[in-house]
Amino acid sequence: MVTLAYKLLKWYDKNGRHLPWRIKGGAHPNPYVILVSEFMLQQTTVKTVIPYFEKFMQRFPTIEDLASASQEEVYHYWQGLGYYTRAKSLHQTAQQIVSSACFPKTRDEVLKLKGIGAYTASSFLALAFNLPETVIDGNVMRIMARLYALTSPLDEIQDVIREKAENLTDTKCPADYASAIMDLGATICTPKKPKCSLCPWKNDCLSYGRQDIENIPQRKKLPKKQKVGFVYLINNSQGEILIRLRTEKGLLSGLYEFPWAEEKLFKNAKDTGQQVVHIFTHFKLTLNIMVLQIDNIDCDGFFVPVCNLSNYPMSTLMKKVIKAF
Ligand code: ADE
Repeated sequence: MVTLAYKLLKWYDKNGRHLPWRIKGGAHPNPYVILVSEFMLQQTTVKTVIPYFEKFMQRFPTIEDLASASQEEVYHYWQGLGYYTRAKSLHQTAQQIVSSACFPKTRDEVLKLKGIGAYTASSFLALAFNLPETVIDGNVMRIMARLYALTSPLDEIQDVIREKAENLTDTKCPADYASAIMDLGATICTPKKPKCSLCPWKNDCLSYGRQDIENIPQRKKLPKKQKVGFVYLINNSQGEILIRLRTEKGLLSGLYEFPWAEEKLFKNAKDTGQQVVHIFTHFKLTLNIMVLQIDNIDCDGFFVPVCNLSNYPMSTLMKKVIKAF
């Protein structure tokens, strides 16, 4: 009998994407390549990741190079990718692996590493060691929901999806199977306008030909929370600008920024009337750009010449502020 896995693997052989972290035909020979790419691909698209991955691997070609680098330099190479806690976790994970002298090869060991959750553990073990792990992300959920015509809201069908996805996973070629199902979701079984006529599973798919296929799985869209705040461009009399290092845990930690907050920080600042808008995963942030000229200021941070700003890794949000002003 020709299995679904076989059909998918045949399709992948011919149509799978060529990606810089991928070698078809089994596990990647270098688990470090998979570690870096899987961290970068958490919450970021393949297209965005490719140039960052290439530059990162040129600078940190081995796990030892990464482990011995400064956090600041690692952030520098992550600048613009967003979700900077990933960079910090990847750096710490590299240090943990170097100090233990070998890559973890079991799910329990991998889950102990910083920044690795269920999805990355599975993709890492499948892609780096060809272990029979099932990757389940939004793409795979969509494929399973359509293949088995699971039309109930997504949060009600998670367990069925997991079971179906696990049953389909090829145990002989889990690395290629994981890459193949990712590619199927990214190029054929897309959220909008899926290319069903090109799908290797079209004869098996219970949603094939359905007019409402784009609505499977059913998702409840929650409106994003709106936040408003103020960002301060503070100059001294030498024309330098004040920046600070964000040390707070979580969002944007470890990056430099102009002082900003949801409440007003400085009474005498002038509102420029300019705004920047940035969409985070769970909220939309609008910052009003304020300016202030002052030499002695009671706030953490330090003045730097504007021409040196590029030496300090900053988030995309702060780059938008620079661009707007
Ligand atoms: N998304 C997460 N991991 C991926 C990978 N290895 N290739 C393509 N897309 C991915």
